Amino acid sequence: MPDIARRVVSIFKQKFSREPLVIRAPGRINLIGEHTDYNEGYVLPAAIDRAIYYAMAPSGTERCNIYSALNPGEAWVNYLMGVMDGFERKGLPIHGVDCVFGGDIPVGGGLSSSAALCNGFGFGLNELYKCGLDPLALAKISQYAEHEFAGLLCGLMDQYASLFGERNAALLLDCRSQKHEVIPVHLTDHFLLLVDTKVKHSLASSAYNERREACEEGVKIIRQRNKGVSSLRDVSRTLLHEHRDRMSEDIFIKCLYVVDEIQRTLQGAEFLKLGQLVEFGKLMYDTHWGLSQAYEVSCVELDYLVALAEEEKITGARMMGGGFGGCTINLAQNDKAESFKEKVIRQYAANFNIQPEFYLVNLVDGVSLMDGKSETL
Ligand code: GLA
Repeated sequence: MPDIARRVVSIFKQKFSREPLVIRAPGRINLIGEHTDYNEGYVLPAAIDRAIYYAMAPSGTERCNIYSALNPGEAWVNYLMGVMDGFERKGLPIHGVDCVFGGDIPVGGGLSSSAALCNGFGFGLNELYKCGLDPLALAKISQYAEHEFAGLLCGLMDQYASLFGERNAALLLDCRSQKHEVIPVHLTDHFLLLVDTKVKHSLASSAYNERREACEEGVKIIRQRNKGVSSLRDVSRTLLHEHRDRMSEDIFIKCLYVVDEIQRTLQGAEFLKLGQLVEFGKLMYDTHWGLSQAYEVSCVELDYLVALAEEEKITGARMMGGGFGGCTINLAQNDKAESFKEKVIRQYAANFNIQPEFYLVNLVDGVSLMDGKSETL
């Protein structure tokens, strides 16, 4: 059990003097398929070995006593209230909990700490009160919390990946059917290196919601003449071009990015299956520049890091997640990684006066119970 999980359990025992249920809820990366989930497209995420840990037990009353071992900041309260509300709206018989949580997912790093936060809490409630929800239902409650209590109209990717993740694999998730195919990830002489820009620009969530609206607007226009179209998943390049004159240039460009990215994701999954990492890496760069120039959700810090990776001939790199900050994901050759890191440290700091951070990630199983009792604390 990682130190932080041990600490969470130990704080729980000090405060509540009994044995808790212990839950691990991982963060996620996304290999490719960005801003496609809310368009019923495909994504290729994976759960990672950074997580939020919960120690939980029924409080015996309707009251919740919750302690955070995370860094200061109270934003988490909203998310947990959102999850509780999600259970209550379904009429599920939940009551109060005693709870301590903490973890090692960098907050604001684009690794879905909020999805992990919600999933872990929901998973715990589901276990403690025997609600019988399946992981997909839990993912949707977490998404509901994000929509209604944090105001981000996100897709389902983050919550889904954190719950369904599998060791050494990514999930090719079809966001329309909400089912996935497991794609084994064999990195051979590469590894996945995240570089954290350490910035999170404030327009992130409003711009995210605006992009979603732009896609919906595009679909609405196409639907006027093609009734069978209900999302950008149904739109080909050709079809989009046929309607180009009926929409603003901005909407056209945004929709085109999504239509292309859905195809790139399917193609990327094929390359991964075949172990064609170089081809996969090229797609990552295409995605990045699409997100930056067409979809306009990048920022100078992310663009800088991706350009540097390209210059250093790193196999693949791109911004990851919603955008406007957070991490780049790099598919880096083992023998290039150290010199790349050194360059990033020197140049990024010199340009932005910010010390970037690096995270090496391994792909792990989704949310699970941990054995808290066997640990000597
Ligand atoms: C955020 C959202 C996801 C997804 C990505 C972009 O992480 O929570 O649903 O839309 O951005 O791919």
